[in-house]
Amino acid sequence: MPSVLFDNIGELLTNAGDPLSDAAMVVDGDLVAWTGPAAAAPDCDERVDCGGAAVLPGFVDSHAHLMFAGDRAAEFAARMAGERYAAGGIRTTVSATRDADDETLFRNAQRLVGELIRSGTTTFEIKSGYGLTVRDEARSLALARKFTDETTFLGAHVVPAEYADDRAGYVELVAGQMLQECAPNARWIDVFCDAGAFDGDETRGILQAGLDAGLTPRVHANQLQHGPGVQVAVEVGAASADHCTHLNAADVDALAGSSTVATLLPGAEFSTRSPYPDARRLLDAGVTVALATDCNPGTSYTTSMPLCIALAVREMGMTVPEAVRAATLGGAAALRRDDVGRLVPGARADLMLLNAPSYLHLAYRPGVDLVDRVWRGGQEVTRG
Ligand code: NIG
Ligand code: FE
Repeated sequence: MPSVLFDNIGELLTNAGDPLSDAAMVVDGDLVAWTGPAAAAPDCDERVDCGGAAVLPGFVDSHAHLMFAGDRAAEFAARMAGERYAAGGIRTTVSATRDADDETLFRNAQRLVGELIRSGTTTFEIKSGYGLTVRDEARSLALARKFTDETTFLGAHVVPAEYADDRAGYVELVAGQMLQECAPNARWIDVFCDAGAFDGDETRGILQAGLDAGLTPRVHANQLQHGPGVQVAVEVGAASADHCTHLNAADVDALAGSSTVATLLPGAEFSTRSPYPDARRLLDAGVTVALATDCNPGTSYTTSMPLCIALAVREMGMTVPEAVRAATLGGAAALRRDDVGRLVPGARADLMLLNAPSYLHLAYRPGVDLVDRVWRGGQEVTRG
């Protein structure tokens, strides 16, 4: 494979030290081979002139629900007219997903993956969770695997209507046969531990079964109200506790004393008109913070990491450097990956070129599509 010199970079954010100005980078095959001052750049087979614009690592979206059919625009509109969000809305999407054929599910996810990549995301997670039968969860994960290895079994999203009178039976199914049939296509296991979904004991039991089946836990924790989600996540060694909107001091301490990443999802607070999580408090306590889209048809129908960055800066007490770091390196930590989220020799050549002189513009110019070109594994995915 030819080596490629990315030359004339106005600002290069590597996530290893301060941003470099007047920089260059060499990509060899699918990896970064060199970064440094443009004046010291080695000769390469090909050259990309970055025109003085900013280059940064591709976003790592560690939390996305892309396997579903239909949408819930009317539910969103009703919320904006004063209705409250409740976890039960998930069942609307469950019906539509069960009724959809594989082709429909695949094409919907493909459309959303296209949006993610176009907006600068180069690594993304996909959850199941809108099937809630053995067949529908297993096929959701088999389809998700066609897009990413970062697949998450979320059979414990809510208790489906047909098990309304037999919660224990559903928990047993999720931790038993459903898990066994889903595990071959899943890396992670997740539980929605919250009001209207699963309690602390149910969550612990399901995650332990996942661990026994070789999956690593992550938890939807403390989104709608304070509860045991964060504590259970830390206790089982989860890679991340996601949402973290309603935390007490013990939760913050538990996260700070653990390797569990707090993944914040401001698209959900935006789209449910809820109070945002306090990122400042978590960062000041030493917690590793990630930002992700939570892309789903109920509470956060966005694929835009730049939107999440802008919201995190404006509403959650993050500085711009902290927010961009959380959307790249933070997401990588939440997926326990050290090959993405940074542009250093040996890392994957997953990067974007902005239509702006500095990465600060990602928050400074909200709502403007600044992502000009994107490369995944050294291959450009935005132009020929
Ligand atoms: O992350 N919190 C649980 N799951 C989604 C909501 C799903 C839905 O309402 O369809 C979330 O916000
Ligand atoms: Fe979610």
